[in-house]
Amino acid sequence: MKEVAAILESQGTGRDACVKVLQEIQAVFGYLPAEALRYVTGHSQITARQIYGVATFYDRFRFKPVGKHIIRTCHGTACHVNGANHIGHAVEEVLKIKPQETTPDGLFTLESAACLGCCSLAPVMMIDDTAYGRLEPRKIKQILRKYTQAAKAKTP
Ligand code: FES
Repeated sequence: MKEVAAILESQGTGRDACVKVLQEIQAVFGYLPAEALRYVTGHSQITARQIYGVATFYDRFRFKPVGKHIIRTCHGTACHVNGANHIGHAVEEVLKIKPQETTPDGLFTLESAACLGCCSLAPVMMIDDTAYGRLEPRKIKQILRKYTQAAKAKTP
């Protein structure tokens, strides 16, 4: 828990540091590991109840490990009227997972979003920081293949 100790040292141990501490823990681990949260409650004024309240209020916090790539399919109004459901189903069908799940190989985690901020491209999904717009279900397999092939190419 050296990393968590360093985070508490830089962000402080008061209750007001809770959000920043959780953000940094997630930046380091990719999610909020229970062990790290126990360390925080044992070495600061931040309580388990406060952590739970903050972590469940902001949907960017995660309690489970995530895949290498985060796919966010948009279900905001513009995307919804332009067929977001078909896009979501196409992703689920190709990856064989449901929203909030991670593929068994740890490559993808699927999430849904209320609006990704590029409504003129609806329907949209993002993979990490890359937006894919004006999607059609038939394009999904091809897009995802780029990521699976890149992962295979890196495997020795
Ligand atoms: S509604 Fe999908 S990007 Fe805004």
